[in-house]
Amino acid sequence: MTIPPPIAMLAELTHRCPLSCPYCSNPVELARIDTELDTDTWERVFNEAAQLGVLQLHLSGGEPASRRDLVALVKAAREAGLYTNLITSGIGLSRRRLDELDSAGLDHIQLSLQGTTPEMADEIGGYRGGYKRKMGVAGWIAEIGFPLTLNAVLHRRNLHQLPRALEMAQEMGARRIEVATVQFHGWALKNRAALMPTRAQAAEATRIVQDARATLKGKLVVDYVPADYHDEYPKRCMGGWGTTGLNVAPDGLVLPCHAAQSISHLRFENVRDRGLADIWYDSAAFNAYRGTDWMAEPCKSCDRRTVDFGGCRCQAMAILGDPGATDPVCVKSPHHARLRADAAAFAEEGDATLTYRLSPGRSVEPAE
Ligand code: SF4
Ligand code: FES
Repeated sequence: MTIPPPIAMLAELTHRCPLSCPYCSNPVELARIDTELDTDTWERVFNEAAQLGVLQLHLSGGEPASRRDLVALVKAAREAGLYTNLITSGIGLSRRRLDELDSAGLDHIQLSLQGTTPEMADEIGGYRGGYKRKMGVAGWIAEIGFPLTLNAVLHRRNLHQLPRALEMAQEMGARRIEVATVQFHGWALKNRAALMPTRAQAAEATRIVQDARATLKGKLVVDYVPADYHDEYPKRCMGGWGTTGLNVAPDGLVLPCHAAQSISHLRFENVRDRGLADIWYDSAAFNAYRGTDWMAEPCKSCDRRTVDFGGCRCQAMAILGDPGATDPVCVKSPHHARLRADAAAFAEEGDATLTYRLSPGRSVEPAE
């Protein structure tokens, strides 16, 4: 099998975050600050990524603005020839820091939205005053002229705000909105009962997205991550394991996807010990679920096996305890009916208590 080079790399610069979102998909065990890669090592990794063929670098976390060296990291990535996208809640970004990021060559910003009102956003983010600060940051982003994607994270509590989120994206001058229904990985698994959309909400969101794509064509691109527990077929997670992208965790572990550490039998290699290209092409973890040879039935003989590659390995692990199984979202999975019943039961839990993410630190650069 010919293995193509990755197109994109997600650099999780830190797991520290000022917010405490219950939907966080980072692992339950977060990387501590004293294990984070230093500036020089990230610089080396960015150069190795560019040599490997990576074109787009997504700088993420946690909250990447919690890294004091963020501007230096962006500069290093641009000098390596990478297109740089900052994925941020906005908390920790001042006007001065945004100007510095602009001078360093930052290409694009993806701003998360926890709700369209201060009440909703601050409740979901677990950070009082966060919405107000975020709106200030959105204004500076527009003034400087960064290309912007608004990332609206939606679930049972705030799906009714989707129409307003679409309006806000336009008011902010965003070129793109990602309507991202919560995916239940990592910490978010603790909150399925509190966040699972109802089937009616999921269907309504799909209708609103389809309408918006028609009416906003040419003005705003609408990406959509549906509530997959209510779907018939699973998503092609990561474009297929080990085909298009890789993640580097704050401590240097190289992962095929952000939730891969939940697959307990896999051993992940570290950029401190081995080159990125070797890890991409030769490591056991990246080769574990590449292609279709690993599949069992019903995927093995299914004509969609190279369309969705059997869905999400981490979802099969989280729900069935078997990362080699067909994603139970698939209607052909023997576990599909149970998943659907569980989704309906979770969605009926009304005001189930939110379990907030506990961050290893809330240190951010002071906003000005
Ligand atoms: Fe995809 Fe497997 Fe379902 Fe076929 S059986 S649609 S390959 S998940
Ligand atoms: Fe790991 Fe989908 S999140 S394969």
